[in-house]
Formats: sequence, structure tokens, C-alpha cells
Amino acid sequence: MLSKFTKHLIITAKLKALHLLLIFFSSAALEVEVGGGRKVSDFSTVRMLYTIGIRGIFWRFELHRGGQKLLIPILLSRDLNPVLATGAFVVPTSIYFILKKFVFKPYYLKREKQKALENMERTATQVQEARKAAAKAQQLLENVANRKRNKQQETGGLVITKAIYGNHKALKKRDELRETNDELASQVLDVTLPLNFLVNDSGQLKLHDGVKKSGIMGFCDPCPGEPKQLHVEYTYHGESYEVAVDDYEELIIPQIAHRV
Ligand SMILES: *[C@@H]1O[C@H](CO)[C@@H](O)[C@H](O)[C@H]1NC(C)=O
Repeated sequence: MLSKFTKHLIITAKLKALHLLLIFFSSAALEVEVGGGRKVSDFSTVRMLYTIGIRGIFWRFELHRGGQKLLIPILLSRDLNPVLATGAFVVPTSIYFILKKFVFKPYYLKREKQKALENMERTATQVQEARKAAAKAQQLLENVANRKRNKQQETGGLVITKAIYGNHKALKKRDELRETNDELASQVLDVTLPLNFLVNDSGQLKLHDGVKKSGIMGFCDPCPGEPKQLHVEYTYHGESYEVAVDDYEELIIPQIAHRV
């Protein structure tokens, strides 16, 4: 057990919010404790700790639920047999990492995906309306946007060749988007036209920082609650450029740094 005088230094590293690593060093008891924990529900956490010190080698299982705590200490050995000491650490650690890779992680990924799907279903009508409004706005901008684009094209200025806005995960899988992936495609919006509309006479485009992009005319929010990005491909003086910015990030193009 972790006695009163055992708490001299606690290093807590938070790994992916769910996995805690605790290391206790005690000068008085000469004990090192290493362990990991995992939240199994909103109220309960399980932890396993490995302790090695002058009192021997222990495993300790802990179940925290609400305010209650169940401790199961297992004494493995009174003396510090190096083989046992190593094995008692390595075996459960390996099992943990194997479980994490093949059981916990797939489970959490699945649950996250499920949540995203539920969110999509919940906001489907809202998104549908917003898309309609955006399409209407794009229609209004179309003539001017095309005129500007043609003018830029003639002078070798700034032409937005492809711009998409939406779920950053969906944008990352852009290649799949070109094929038919409805679930991903429904979370992005083509904004090539409104961006060409925003290119000014000197062949530049600026979107201010701190302003979310779904509010720009011809845009809408295709995935409420999800982190979004704007991905832009453009040409300038006949060269190709590419850039991605977060929803609230500033965008100034053209820029040499974006050249591909
Ligand atoms: C075009 O936009 C850039 C960047 O915001 C600005 O520096 C420039 O003065 C603008 N040019 C015109 C003609 O509005």
C-alpha cells in the first residue's frame, strides 16, 4: 500500500486523456511504483500498479467507482529476484499494450465513429437547409465569380481551381472523396466559386482570422460540431499551389510557401 510517507514525487503523464501513468518514488521506503489506469465508464476507473521496493514485488489492482475504491494487492515475492521483477513488469505491460492495440483502440474508434454518425443524423435537416441556402448564394455569385476568374486567367493571376470546406477528417481522405463515399462527401462543401468571387482586382484573396468560414457568402456548415478545414488549390502565374487552413485561421493567397 502507498503509505503516508511514500508520497514524495508524483509524476503524472496524461496519455490520450484516458491512460494515466503514475510513478511514485519514495526515499523513505525505497519503492518505485509504475502503473496505468483506464476509465471504463464515466464513474469507474481501473488501475494496475507494479511496485518494487524493499518490501518486495507487488501487483496492485484498483477499482475506483464513484467515491469507492477497491484495492487488491498481490504479493509476488518478498525478495528481489531480478527475473521475477522483470517478468512481473514486462508481462502485464505487454498484455496491456496488446489489448490496447487490438481491443481498446478499435473499440474507441468504433464508438467515436458511432457518435459522429449520430451527430450527422441529428443535424441532417439543419445541414440540408444550410446547403440549399449556400447553393442559392453561390448561384447569385456565379456571374461575377466567373467573370473574375476569366479575367484572372487571362492575366495569369490568381485562379482558385478547387476549394473544399468541411470536416477535416473527410478532407484528409480527399482521394476517397473523388470516388463515391457518400458519408465523407456529405461532410464537405465545394466552395471554389465563392472563393473566386472573393479574389480582388490585384489578384489576391484574404480571409480574416477569428472569423469562422461557414459564415462566408456561398459557404455553409456541412458538419456542425465537427472540426473543419478549408482546403484550397489554386494557380498563380500558371504555377500550382495548395494550402489548408483551420476554420478560424487566416488565409492569404497567393503565397510562395504554398507552391506544390
Ligand atoms: C487585394 O487584397 C490585398 C490583401 O488583402 C490588399 O493588400 C490589396 O490592396 C487588395 N487590392 C485591391 C485592389 O483591393
